[in-house]
Amino acid sequence: MLDPSNERTAWDRDHFFHPSTHMGMHARGETPTRVISGGDGVYITDVTGRKSLDAFAGLYCVNVGYGREKIADAIAAQARQLAYYHAYVGHGTDASITLAKMVIDRAPAGMSKVYFGLSGSDANETNIKLIWYYNNVLGRPEKKKIISRWRGYHGSGVMTGSLTGLELFHNAFDLPRAPILHTEAPYYFRRADRSMSEEQFSQHCADKLEEMILAEGPETVAAFIGEPILGTGGIVPPPAGYWERIQVVLKKYDVLLVADEVVTGFGRLGTMFGSDHYGIKPDLITIAKGLTSAYAPLSGVIVGDAMWDVLVQGSDKLGAIGHGWTYAAHPLCAAAGVANLELIDELGLVENAASTGAYFRQQLGQAVGDHPNVGDVRGDGLLAAVEFVEDRDDRKFFDPAKKIGPQVAAALLERGVIGRAMPQGDILGFAPPLCLTREEADIVVGAAAAAIRGVLA
Ligand SMILES: Cc1ncc(COP(=O)(O)O)c(C=O)c1O
Repeated sequence: MLDPSNERTAWDRDHFFHPSTHMGMHARGETPTRVISGGDGVYITDVTGRKSLDAFAGLYCVNVGYGREKIADAIAAQARQLAYYHAYVGHGTDASITLAKMVIDRAPAGMSKVYFGLSGSDANETNIKLIWYYNNVLGRPEKKKIISRWRGYHGSGVMTGSLTGLELFHNAFDLPRAPILHTEAPYYFRRADRSMSEEQFSQHCADKLEEMILAEGPETVAAFIGEPILGTGGIVPPPAGYWERIQVVLKKYDVLLVADEVVTGFGRLGTMFGSDHYGIKPDLITIAKGLTSAYAPLSGVIVGDAMWDVLVQGSDKLGAIGHGWTYAAHPLCAAAGVANLELIDELGLVENAASTGAYFRQQLGQAVGDHPNVGDVRGDGLLAAVEFVEDRDDRKFFDPAKKIGPQVAAALLERGVIGRAMPQGDILGFAPPLCLTREEADIVVGAAAAAIRGVLA
């Protein structure tokens, strides 16, 4: 933490408006400032020299780990050669064109184009516009509603914050806006009817979706968006048969499917894409985080062939698409992306996410699964979560005011490991860099077990 008498602490309190931070408490100095100054592998270091094992990879984005010279060199070389040129009216750079090809080579079958933005939020904003444009080109101007899930996270812009199904991101922002709707979260552990099997619960989610489409009128419903595995909403793998059943409903009513792979893209689940992992056949895929491992901000929308054909018809009728940002496909970010995807292959990180992920989750389950206040230990690949309950048998949740999740995350940090208190529920999340070793996984598990015992004695 910064020394309170330090000048930088005062500058921080007085001038830095931090995202996702309690504004008053921070400005008054009631919450700590931590200034991060370095990173190497799975560790970060702050200005006081304190090291922490970052078991959340920043915001599940530093997938190759910190301090990779290869990516830093690629960014520097690009900056020296050509820091910027735009991508409008057919312009590109070696880096942006190469990265497009590399993304499509790795994408699920049936995808052939990628549009580059800067953040997961702006990529989902692009998705919404493409969905509306698509239906206008097809002469169905009333087919515009987009169905998302409660607990989904898709960004914090006006429309993407609306797609997001978490209260924190709606409160006092006049969100969600029309035409966005939310359906049942695929959260088996929190199902209302506890007698349901996973398969029954998946069918229930599909039935709820179908009910909503019928109530709204299928001619008004354009698309459904979901993360292959719920991320910020609690790190919740889909219940058995979920995606299969959801896709049956979407097909029946001609509703497009957007797979938001901002977290799962490029290896997090031990497969290149979560869509392949769970048998999802999307029309659009959102990518960001793992595309550059956050060495530079870059996102993308991968467009399926069938949708692309319609977009082209639109352009033939209407002219150039009126959509773009100054920094779309920014050369520095694209250069980072190329080096990052090469590094993922060279280091075998997708395979490591599968094998070390399985080891990590198994060890975590063994170490904390029997604790009387642990209701659920879950995850897939290198994503894991521990959900806390007051009473296991009754599945009674803690009063949120007790802030059990944040307390455990703080106790974990005291033990030198960063996990994330997920924003809705008492849930400790893990999403370490994909280069995590078994020894490092053991450190995380040991610290998590001690932190949980410390807070919930
Ligand atoms: C699934 C998903 N989609 C979209 C976003 C938004 O990305 P960004 O924060 O880059 O705007 C996130 C961010 O965590 C995410 O997890």
